[in-house]
Amino acid sequence: MNNVIAIDGPAASGKSTVAKRVAIEIDGLYVDSGALYRAITWKALQEGVDTSDFVANAKVAQSIDPEFYVENNVLRFRIEGQELNAELRTAEINDNVSYIAATPAARDVVMVWLHKMPALGTLVMEGRDIGTAVFPDAANKFYLDASPEERARRRHAEQANSKEQQSVTEVNSSLQKRDKIDSSRKKDPLKIADDAVKVDSTGKSIEDVVKLICDSCKK
Ligand code: CDP
Repeated sequence: MNNVIAIDGPAASGKSTVAKRVAIEIDGLYVDSGALYRAITWKALQEGVDTSDFVANAKVAQSIDPEFYVENNVLRFRIEGQELNAELRTAEINDNVSYIAATPAARDVVMVWLHKMPALGTLVMEGRDIGTAVFPDAANKFYLDASPEERARRRHAEQANSKEQQSVTEVNSSLQKRDKIDSSRKKDPLKIADDAVKVDSTGKSIEDVVKLICDSCKK
């Protein structure tokens, strides 16, 4: 499958920034699969669901019907007519999303959405299981990582204008907790695909990582 570039990796490893830029470089579509898990989480929390209840999580996921649309080089979605941006990036969503993502039936729902996307163009899709489970036949797979300190620093800097600014230490422990759940869940855990190119972005500029990925892609 030559029309999917899979970029997986742990939380805050720089996937979004890099994947968006790669999509522009190749005139493809950037897909943030994590945003879909965050949207399900947002809906679950609105409905007062305890996200440790996998049966309830599954019902919420199955009740959602995102409306996907293309804007420039990004594949966006609305839920019940609403675009969700900052709402998906709160500490409460961060603390709950890995439980939604560990719910097998919620993963099945997201998988169906993601599998329809290649019809729309060449995808640069970021996530945790894109190269291992969603598109295991993708010709181009990358696993983007960075040191825990750098990841916490980057995420802390991104939150600079948010109302709920956490300390670097708090951000670090939230990222570590999420990575632990994401790597140890039964269904499609975060892991490196055997055929993925590993990229450590610690100390590297965004431009360098984008170039490395674009240069490594099989045409
Ligand atoms: O941006 P960040 O790296 O913090 O996370 P994200 O990509 O928005 O993903 C949020 C959460 O969704 C992750 O911690 C995983 O629990 C889940 N996720 C997943 O399980 N599989 C994916 N393909 C993408 C995200």
